[in-house]
Amino acid sequence: MASPHKRLLVTAALPYANGYLHLGHMAGAYLPADLYVRYHRLKGKDVLFLCGSDEHGVAITVTGEQEGLTPQQVIDRYHPANEEAFRKFGMSFDHYSRTSIPLHHETTREFFRNFSDRSLLKEKREKQLFCEKDNMFLADRYVEGTCPKCGYDQARGDQCENCGSWLNQVELIKPKCKLCGTTPVVRETTHLYFPLGQFQRRLEKYVKERNKRDGWKENVLRYCESWFKAGLEDRAVTRDLKWGVPVPVSGFENKVIYVWFDAVLGYITAGKEWAARQGKKEAWKDYWQGTETKYVAFIGKDNVVFHCIVFPAMLMGWNDGEEEQYVLPENVPANEFLNFEGQKFSKSRGWGIDLRDFLDHFPADYLRYALAVTLPESRDSDFYLKDFQARVNNELADILGNFVNRTLAFTQRSFGGVVPPRRKIEALDREILEILSTAPSNVGNLFENYRLRDGVTEAMNLARAANKYFNDSEPWKTAKSDMDRCGTTIHIALQLVRSLAILFEPVTPQISRTIWKMLNLKEPIGPGFWDTAAKPGLDEGHTLNPPEILVSKIEDKQIDKILQSAGVERSLTPATTGIKPTISLEDFKKIDLRVAKVVEAEKIPKSSKLLRLKVEVGGEVRQIVAGIAQQYEPSWMVGKLLVVVANLQPVTLMGNESRGMLLAANADDGKLSIVTILDDLPPGTAVR
Ligand code: MF3
Ligand code: ZN
Repeated sequence: MASPHKRLLVTAALPYANGYLHLGHMAGAYLPADLYVRYHRLKGKDVLFLCGSDEHGVAITVTGEQEGLTPQQVIDRYHPANEEAFRKFGMSFDHYSRTSIPLHHETTREFFRNFSDRSLLKEKREKQLFCEKDNMFLADRYVEGTCPKCGYDQARGDQCENCGSWLNQVELIKPKCKLCGTTPVVRETTHLYFPLGQFQRRLEKYVKERNKRDGWKENVLRYCESWFKAGLEDRAVTRDLKWGVPVPVSGFENKVIYVWFDAVLGYITAGKEWAARQGKKEAWKDYWQGTETKYVAFIGKDNVVFHCIVFPAMLMGWNDGEEEQYVLPENVPANEFLNFEGQKFSKSRGWGIDLRDFLDHFPADYLRYALAVTLPESRDSDFYLKDFQARVNNELADILGNFVNRTLAFTQRSFGGVVPPRRKIEALDREILEILSTAPSNVGNLFENYRLRDGVTEAMNLARAANKYFNDSEPWKTAKSDMDRCGTTIHIALQLVRSLAILFEPVTPQISRTIWKMLNLKEPIGPGFWDTAAKPGLDEGHTLNPPEILVSKIEDKQIDKILQSAGVERSLTPATTGIKPTISLEDFKKIDLRVAKVVEAEKIPKSSKLLRLKVEVGGEVRQIVAGIAQQYEPSWMVGKLLVVVANLQPVTLMGNESRGMLLAANADDGKLSIVTILDDLPPGTAVR
């Protein structure tokens, strides 16, 4: 299906800068987006590919409280780390921005002011959850409870991760304050509301029309239908919080704009920042405001409502009042979730593998391929390390790698590394050339229809057919009997190698680059190359470079190693008991537990959770910071005998060094008890 659009704008959901990216993220939005983009560049399309970090909202501040960091410190830690992990993974963003920059605040405030000036926003006094203990309104992730729609017991104030509902926090069943665990009360506060209901009819039409034009995914349509059926309502777009974009409307200066209102506009900011860096300040408008643009927004399933309903409604709202017209998403391909070894990825339970850890062990292309062929496109799918190993060994190495290496090695051995001439064509040759002639369009059609997993599988099928061609043609035999025949086989096999390099470029760009180098081709695989893969493209007499191993097999011990590496040990905890895997006595003995006597205790200013303790441990007084301020009075702590981990690497929490950690029992509901020694033993006594 040839698209009439001249330009392609592609965005991938902006990940929160509150943790490291894991493999689930990659399978959800990022790898599909990158496959799609790389394919379209090879087709010769004018593409702009944007992403960035989502740096506002309670996701950031809660992490800050947990890790003893300010929100700014949180985003300054995770934004660069995630940008780097994306780069290593081979994401080909034209620009990776972040929402904390002034330019983004401007973009957001411009939209907000525009809506407010045109009276699109309504002021309403409504009930919200308020924690009397923490003395604050519990916006969004500050409150958790049971989802009224699906019964999931860890739904957040604004969103249920389980069923994807966008919630109104007062609907939560049994709400609990995330900070102190107590039940909040209901209090009135004033907010500005976006009239989503007013857009419902147009949104329904929009989804229907775009689906007809570009074929939306079933799962996405189902989500949209259920929201339309329930009826769209006004939604508060301001929050009683400090961290975020300040509301640019008088009377609301103490509030911030709701994170999702600013996050989706982050895509536009990314375009503006990209243009500025190109030295063509206005160039972003060619993509965002051109009628010739096709805009595709890749996301994970928990983001559907914001991209299919909220964002289009906001853009419609703007377009209604302004001459500058933004493009709306033509499609919103959302993937379901990827599970890891049979369970959901979970940051809080430490289940899963961070992308950066994984890439310390294996080349990005191995992961890209293995993920691509198991993408959760229509339902949740599973990532198993054993499966990863099998995909790399049995497909990437044994099919693609083997075909390329045997062909190139044969050329070196029998033809001195020079492409032999093609002589008389026989049935086997004709058959494979026929397969080759349709492969790029077959793979391409699947990619264009968002069936990326099938597209990659189809590319591997060409490699499979190529291997079969090599086997059936038996060039090692014809080399002894009929050199012309042998040369013809190798000539065609080399053409297949070249075509495979192009068809695999979207999924395994590094491998393609290596093949290209071995083929000694000067001009890199670039825009417009896709269709050239249908036909032979190497000249007879062209000299190749010596071959090198393309894909190395993964050994069992490498898989075992990654299972044991940082964080992954923890992640193999059976979910039912929560008991961690067995360790040796030797492992346990590495932990130096000692009795410590508290000599001083005080609250840390500006922290609701942390106490600063001076403890005596065997002739030495040291400082320990502990997150127990909500449970224990400092004065009560003095004189207590605690158990501390005495040889833990020091950390700094809100500017205070902590040398060691005290032991405490931590219940899921936030209850906590320190571990104390009953009898009067001298500080420094070993505990084992
Ligand atoms: N940060 C959000 C998440 O991780 C995604 C935001 S996508 C955006 O779920 F477009 F809104 F930024
Ligand atoms: Zn739910």
